Amino acid sequence: MSLLDRLRDSSRPSRTSTAAPASGSASVDIDGVTMRFGDRNAAEDIHVDVRPGEIVSIVGPSGCGKTTLLRAVAGLISPAEGRVRVDGETVSTTPDGVAMVFQHFGLFPWKTAEANIAYPLRLRGLPREEIASRTRELIEMVGLSGFERSYPHQLSGGMQQRTGLARALAVRPRVLLMDEPFGALDAQTAEVLRFELLRMWEEHPITMLFVTHSIDEAVLFGDRVVVLKGRPGRVHEVIDVALPRPRDRAVAMSEEFVALRERVWSLVMSQDTHRTR
Ligand SMILES: Nc1ncnc2c1ncn2[C@@H]1O[C@H](COP(=O)(O)OP(=O)(O)OP(=O)(O)O)[C@@H](O)[C@H]1O
Ligand SMILES: [Mg+2]
Repeated sequence: MSLLDRLRDSSRPSRTSTAAPASGSASVDIDGVTMRFGDRNAAEDIHVDVRPGEIVSIVGPSGCGKTTLLRAVAGLISPAEGRVRVDGETVSTTPDGVAMVFQHFGLFPWKTAEANIAYPLRLRGLPREEIASRTRELIEMVGLSGFERSYPHQLSGGMQQRTGLARALAVRPRVLLMDEPFGALDAQTAEVLRFELLRMWEEHPITMLFVTHSIDEAVLFGDRVVVLKGRPGRVHEVIDVALPRPRDRAVAMSEEFVALRERVWSLVMSQDTHRTR
């Protein structure tokens, strides 16, 4: 039994718990979504369809509305037009089993790593022992053993993002929203975490929307890469990534990988940089 399966098994809410069980992966349908702040659009007429267990990468210039779109999927803000559905249900508040990992980690500085990871479980009112055992497993899973009692400022960037990932996984997500999760890390740490996350995903494929500025990362993770263009962003092109899984280093060095990376790169570079920067 894989670590993620064990985690799911041991973390099933008890009968007294108020947390609704979430299981498996969910579909995400971003259907003609326009996001608007005041009288300005942040993204226009976006269509992205993600099947359960798929990873869809999203790339596009700064300010084209990527974070805003993820926030709409998380039910934190509502589209001005169109709708987002998770497993067919229109999103109005944060759907059960949807979790987000942020570029700047988004940890509570006054809480230890352990308390940050446990936070969503406390919010759900799980019994104390269940929170403790689930948190222990998460810490082991993301390789944070020995740093449970450290505060974020005492952790390296990589460890802080491991904490952010563990906190997102704590709710047994059916959809993981990744907002440039490795963007603030040094190249080497980012590389290590990328392959670790891919291994975790192989053990238990969770639906992922993966926003990144790294074209390599977009191709490495994605079943598809959605290239957004402009500000407000619109879908410019969707590239199918028919690379084999598991996506290991050998895949990342293959000719097919390089060809796809160049394709995405040329699409991104073909954009009107004066307008979009
Ligand atoms: N809460 C907000 N209020 C007003 N405008 C906002 C708000 N959040 C985002 N915007 C605007 O929406 C647009 C898209 O922002 P968003 O953060 O989604 O871009 P992004 O694609 O994630 O950029 P980056 O790659 O730099 O992270 C920007 O013009 C931004 O100023
Ligand atoms: Mg952003």
